[in-house]
Amino acid sequence: MAHDEVSGHDTAASDSSAVETTRGTTAGTTVIASDVVNPGEPPHRKRVTDVDPKANKTAQRSVYTLFYLSIAGSVFAVAAYMAFPIEDGDPTALRLNTLFIGIGIALALFGIGLAAVHWGKALMYDKEGIDERHPVRGTDATRERAVEIFEQADKESGFGRRTLIRNSLIGALVAFPLPGLVLFRGLGPQNEDPVELLSHTMWQKGSRLTLDPTGIPVKAADITIGSVFHIIPEGLNEREDRLEQKAKAAVLLMRLNPDDLNISPGREGWSYDGIVAYSKICTHVGCPVALYEQQTHHLLCPCHQSTFDVVNECEVIFGPAKRPLPQLPIEVDSEGYLVAKSDFNEPVGPSFWERP
Ligand code: FES
Repeated sequence: MAHDEVSGHDTAASDSSAVETTRGTTAGTTVIASDVVNPGEPPHRKRVTDVDPKANKTAQRSVYTLFYLSIAGSVFAVAAYMAFPIEDGDPTALRLNTLFIGIGIALALFGIGLAAVHWGKALMYDKEGIDERHPVRGTDATRERAVEIFEQADKESGFGRRTLIRNSLIGALVAFPLPGLVLFRGLGPQNEDPVELLSHTMWQKGSRLTLDPTGIPVKAADITIGSVFHIIPEGLNEREDRLEQKAKAAVLLMRLNPDDLNISPGREGWSYDGIVAYSKICTHVGCPVALYEQQTHHLLCPCHQSTFDVVNECEVIFGPAKRPLPQLPIEVDSEGYLVAKSDFNEPVGPSFWERP
């Protein structure tokens, strides 16, 4: 049987896997309040600066020396600004300017910070105090007074009595944010139907898969098992709206062992000998899903850690994303290049209001 030095209680009972509490319930390894003795405050230990006048003097000296050091740092920074002016087209001058001003400001901040901490710890009044916790709930009197105030306000304003005024006020408050919501439409595309725009990408039947950013077409024979490539559609770099298009059409291309892939009915022809292509745009809020774990075949979105399982058609296995990454159906053309069989079969990226 173990003996607790602090409380003086035998602790064998609390070591057992189950303990009967005073209420007759099983407490398991729970600490029972009656077993815990408040050890109270540890004895107050005086600081060396409280008992030794010499140490106190030394601490005072250290504090004001550090403040003086800070002043010197500030002056040094100003002097450095004048001594090392920035010259147009001279990177060395710029480097020296930032270096010495930085050293001066660092000294100034370091001196103030260290002096303040040292002052507080070694010289300021050394008193320990206890702040008792108080209940969050107000007293009965306070609560009654609050109810009184509400009732009085209701009576004086006639809010409960004048129902027509009250209801029209609620209507006005509900209608007030509507113009703001409607104005959001101005943030979307002006001349095109946003639903149509968001539903399609520039991929189409026969578009070659090319490397991002060079635009070099990719052959199936170049893709080894375990590799991953960032892909854009052929011709993207020549388009004026390439950034908008890339934000929807970016793709990740991976090759796995074909036997590892779980392919659902209807998608049998969407991959080529273990090579699969998935949208790189996260279905959560649209970050690029750029991390591929080769061993586990997981794709990871760095923004909020949504994780997609490539083996199971990029279903979500972790994180806030709600839908799998859309798959781009691919095949190989007569020259051995990888090409798209069609556009994605569903909109890419985050959900939007008319997404099927
Ligand atoms: S955008 Fe990918 S997890 Fe949030």
